[in-house]
Amino acid sequence: MKRPKDYLIFPLDVPTYQEAIRYVEILKEHVGLFKVGLELFVSVGPKILRTIRERSEAGIFLDLKFHDIPATVKGAFLAASAHGVTFTTVHCDEGEGLLRSVVENNPSGTKILAVTVLTSLESKNLKELGYLDRYVNDITELVLLKARMAKEAGCSGVVCSGLEVEKVKANLGKDFIVVTPGIRPAWSLGGKDDQKRIITPYQALKNGADYIVVGRPIRIAEKPIEAAKKVLDEIETAISE
Ligand code: C5P
Repeated sequence: MKRPKDYLIFPLDVPTYQEAIRYVEILKEHVGLFKVGLELFVSVGPKILRTIRERSEAGIFLDLKFHDIPATVKGAFLAASAHGVTFTTVHCDEGEGLLRSVVENNPSGTKILAVTVLTSLESKNLKELGYLDRYVNDITELVLLKARMAKEAGCSGVVCSGLEVEKVKANLGKDFIVVTPGIRPAWSLGGKDDQKRIITPYQALKNGADYIVVGRPIRIAEKPIEAAKKVLDEIETAISE
């Protein structure tokens, strides 16, 4: 049975090893996975993964959002999965063939999550990027298109906003993992940063999210442990109703 903290992913979005370790130490009892993203991994490299493993029981999500030609993505994915991480991410935008070739060459069994539409994007951005009106007017349609492709290719799940989870689950089944960033608890500074398609922890869980990524609402809180506990309370309420 999943505990509330098993739903919570904390992104270590900091530039130094010391800062990352500080957050690992203070939050390790309260989160299910630590997410290591581009900033930290490019700054400090794989030693951060070893340290997280030595100091905590949390899982590791190596979120490098690969997006390049197939040969490069395949090689990068193999290098990432050799670190023994639970999850890693590949963008959908190179199409099903790329996703399939990554899935088929995965000796470490890392779970591959496909990135659908970043939660920092909204309709006007999609229009600028040349998407068809049907997707500009209904981002969920675009998320579903990409999620279907990811499932067909054999990915374990997708990353999308909490606003789209319900439809992804309804269309692709409850076992297809959905990870949702863009989480803004009612008490945090919603709408004042780069995240656009946002939702509360409670609502994301109610909509069926398997994991929520909560960064700034915890990281920049005056008391990060208290903030994490408040998120866990919301998760508990949602899963126990
Ligand atoms: O909660 P906060 O906005 O600080 O979370 C930011 C994190 O969410 C970053 O690590 C970013 O990479 C991640 N993210 C993501 N997928 C998106 C949008 C953000 O993994 N679509």
